[in-house]
Amino acid sequence: MNNKQYRKILETLLNILEEGVHIVDSDGISILYNNAMAEMEQVDAANVIGLNILDCFPEIAEEDSTIWQVLQSRQPIYNKVQNYTGPTGKQINTINATVPVEDEQGNLMAAIEVAHDITRLTNLNDKLMQLQEMVTPAGKIKPKAKGIKKYRFEDLVGKDPEFIKCVNRARKAAGYDVPVLIYGETGTGKELFSQSIHYSGIRKDKPFLAQNCAALPENLLEGILFGTAKGGFTGAVDRSGLFEQANGGTLFLDELNSMPIDLQGKLLRVLQESYVRHIGGSKDIPVDVRIIASVNEDPQELIERGTLRSDLYYRLNVVNINIPPLRDRRSDIPYLAESLIRKHSSKMDKKPLTISRPAIRALMEYDYPGNVRELENIIIQALFMVDDENILSPDLLNLPCPRKVNRKPSSDYQAGEPLTEYMERVEKEILLNALDLCHGNVTHCASVLHLKRQTLQYKLIKYGILT
Ligand SMILES: Nc1ncnc2c1ncn2[C@@H]1O[C@H](COP(=O)(O)OP(=O)(O)OP(=O)(O)O)[C@@H](O)[C@H]1O
Ligand SMILES: [Mg+2]
Repeated sequence: MNNKQYRKILETLLNILEEGVHIVDSDGISILYNNAMAEMEQVDAANVIGLNILDCFPEIAEEDSTIWQVLQSRQPIYNKVQNYTGPTGKQINTINATVPVEDEQGNLMAAIEVAHDITRLTNLNDKLMQLQEMVTPAGKIKPKAKGIKKYRFEDLVGKDPEFIKCVNRARKAAGYDVPVLIYGETGTGKELFSQSIHYSGIRKDKPFLAQNCAALPENLLEGILFGTAKGGFTGAVDRSGLFEQANGGTLFLDELNSMPIDLQGKLLRVLQESYVRHIGGSKDIPVDVRIIASVNEDPQELIERGTLRSDLYYRLNVVNINIPPLRDRRSDIPYLAESLIRKHSSKMDKKPLTISRPAIRALMEYDYPGNVRELENIIIQALFMVDDENILSPDLLNLPCPRKVNRKPSSDYQAGEPLTEYMERVEKEILLNALDLCHGNVTHCASVLHLKRQTLQYKLIKYGILT
């Protein structure tokens, strides 16, 4: 295949990509420039190919051109957010990767820039920030913003001893103005806990703002948290960040483990110094914000894997709250189910329903990878199915896999554990497994275990397996 044919294949490939691609040789002369890039930069490819990038884009200074920088430094630049104002005045935001290409002898051959258009994402983010500012103008919060549910400790349903311990720790933490780190799987109630802590603490009349740290590119998240200055590279506008908007109140950093590690370092500095600086700005702005952070994996494992900075962890982990997954507090399922039925039947204008014992048993057998949120969805779906019934029966429950059993063995003896407690733990596990094998049928289970039905029933109630 000759060079011309090879180039044709390459051009065809580049022109079907959604990402913009711009390739220059070692002198900065453009050799490939695909359609997506031409559309993003609103420049005709014919006016780029064969020309030096500094001549093609005279409005971009040398030090601002990532391609030029990469040609000089031979170091790749990843995740760089760039803003363009096209000839029609339209703002375009891209997130770019620019890498040098060297031959086998280490001679520079080219630089490649790949641009991903995030204009829509940035616009959505701007809208979100504007809305947030409307609800919580910096420093002030409308005392009762309509439609925004504020959770308090009274909303937390559960009697399991480990769960109660968590609630008590959270109540204590609320009284002290210290950072809190909440660890819990998805749907265990991390948001509920964080709001309850805020609205029971001394900052309750100040803003509570939440930001999910996942799913946003680093520079955008940085701008959202710390604000941006006019001309700064993540935004053309002057805008305060969440730290300023939450000043005096609480900032809930949800899924902190998804925050890029460099940004975790910047966050730590802000927490240590109590000052923020807008991106691209030069003024230090004092902030007084309580941080509640959440992680959905074991913090120690996150530190070992290098996804959570240990110094940030120690800074935030003044109080830690470890919410147990629902499968480890099955005795709460009946209370939660009843409370969720009450909550949603009134919202859906349905008459109050009682839940049948077989339905409770079926609910208690399931493992809930999505925890309370999943139980809530199952209840809502069941309520949709109800017509005139007064009782919620198992056939109204659409359990994803009703008999799925995924209990971790917990019967290993733990040093120092009293023998009676250990034996009760083992007995409970045996009963749960036997009941699973018998598909929740207590009579059958009693005969399998060679127990009287009443004896088994007594034990199941004692261990909170039945109510
Ligand atoms: N103990 C509880 N009592 C009552 N409702 C609860 C409880 N825990 C969770 N919920 C309900 O479950 C749903 C999920 O809770 P929440 O949003 O606080 O979970 P999360 O841990 O933040 O989840 P994610 O990790 O997915 O963000 C909410 O609708 C909430 O009302
Ligand atoms: Mg949440």
